[in-house]
Amino acid sequence: MRWAKVEYKNVFDYPLKGKTVFLRADLNSSVVEGRVVISSRLREHSKTIYALSEEGAKVVVLSHQGRPGEEEFIELKRHADFIKKFVDRPVKFVKWEADYVSEIKNMENGDIVVLDNTRFIKEEQEDKTPEEHANDPVIKKLGPLGDLFVQDALSVCHRPHSSVVGFKKYMPCVVGPQLQRELEALDKLNGKGSGNRLVVLGGAKLSDSVSLLEGMLDNNLCNKACVGGLFGELFLKAQGVDFGAKEKFFREKGFDKLLPKAREILKKHSAKLILAKDFGIEEPRDSGKRKEAQLKELPSKFDTMDIGRETSELFKEHIRGASVVVFNGPMGVYEKKAFAVGTKKVLEAIAFHRCYSIIGGGDTEKALTSFGLVAQDFSFVSLAGKALLQFLSGEPLPGLEILEKNYSKPIK
Ligand code: 3PG
Repeated sequence: MRWAKVEYKNVFDYPLKGKTVFLRADLNSSVVEGRVVISSRLREHSKTIYALSEEGAKVVVLSHQGRPGEEEFIELKRHADFIKKFVDRPVKFVKWEADYVSEIKNMENGDIVVLDNTRFIKEEQEDKTPEEHANDPVIKKLGPLGDLFVQDALSVCHRPHSSVVGFKKYMPCVVGPQLQRELEALDKLNGKGSGNRLVVLGGAKLSDSVSLLEGMLDNNLCNKACVGGLFGELFLKAQGVDFGAKEKFFREKGFDKLLPKAREILKKHSAKLILAKDFGIEEPRDSGKRKEAQLKELPSKFDTMDIGRETSELFKEHIRGASVVVFNGPMGVYEKKAFAVGTKKVLEAIAFHRCYSIIGGGDTEKALTSFGLVAQDFSFVSLAGKALLQFLSGEPLPGLEILEKNYSKPIK
C-alpha cells in the first residue's frame, strides 16, 4: 500500500540564502464580482513565502486560479497584492508576456516574484509525465534558473500539471511547511495503536466519496465509518430500502451506477458501517418544515433532508469513542435551517470532544462557519478538496510522487 509516511525532505533542511526557490502554492480562491475573496490558502502560503524570504531565498511563486472558461479564471495580480500586504515587503507580479527569465535572473536575496496564473500557459493542464512536462517550453526556460522546487499545496498534488511535476528533471523537489502540516495531520490515520479512527462521511459527491470510503476501509485507515447525507442513503438503498418520492432524485444523481460498488463495500465491511436509523423529512414539500421519521416508516411521499435525531445521537456516541475523527461532507441539506441540525450536532461533537480531528473539503469549511464554529475548534482543517479524497483513498498523487523520488538529491 502506498500510504505516505511523512518522509519527505523539508525545504528548511536546505541552506536557502541566495538560492532560487520555485514555490508551487495554491492561491486559487473564490472570486465574487471580479474580486478575490481572501482565503486560508492565501494566508497560509503567504506565511511560507515570508519564511523563505526571511531565510534569504529568491522566492518565485507559481499558482493557478480558476479553470479556463470560468469566471474565476483571472490573473494573479490581486493575489500578489494580498501577499505584499501580508508579508509587509515588496512583491513583484510578473505576467507571462513579460521577460520573466530576466526578472528571475535579476532577483536579489529575499526578493519575491509572483508569476501569473500557470493555467494561462497552454501546456500546463496537459496530463503528461514529469519527463514530458520537462520539455514544455516554459518549464524548459524556468528549470535551469531554479535551485529548489517546493511543493506547498496538497490541494494541487492530484494534478499531473507542468507546474506540479515538470521541475523534477531540473532540481530537488521538496516539501513546504503547509504541505508538511497536512501530511503530518493525515499521518495520524496511519498509526497502529492510535486508538479508534472514525470517519464521518456525508455530502452529495457520491463517486468521490465511494472511492474514499472504500480506500479507507480497505487500507484499514479507519475502524468505523458513520455515513449520512445523500451518500448514506446510497448504502441504505443498496440494502433494499425504498425511499418513495426521492427515488426519482436518486436516479438523476446516478445511484444506479454506484449501487453495485455500494453493495460490494457493504459485503466486505458491513460491521464497520454505521448508517442512519431515522431522518428529518420536509413535509409538506418546500415548506422548510421538519418532521422526524424512522427508517421503517419509509417509503415516504416527502424527501429525507437530514439524518434524524436518534442517528445524530448514535454518530455522537461513536465520535466520543474515537481518538481520531475525519469529517468530510454534510449530513443533510444544511443550507436550510431545519435540516442543518444533523450536520451541526455532529460537527459540534467533533469540535468539543478531545479527539484529533481532521476536517476536509471547501464545502465543509463553509458549513462550519455557518454554525459559528471556527477552524481553531478542530485539530486540522485541510485546504485540499479532491486531492485530500484521493490521498485518503490510497491513490497515488503525481505531485507527491516526484517528492518521494527526489528527497535525497543534493542541491546544486
Ligand atoms: C482546488 O481548488 O481544489 C485546487 O485549487 C485544484 O483546483 P482544480 O480542481 O481546478 O484543479
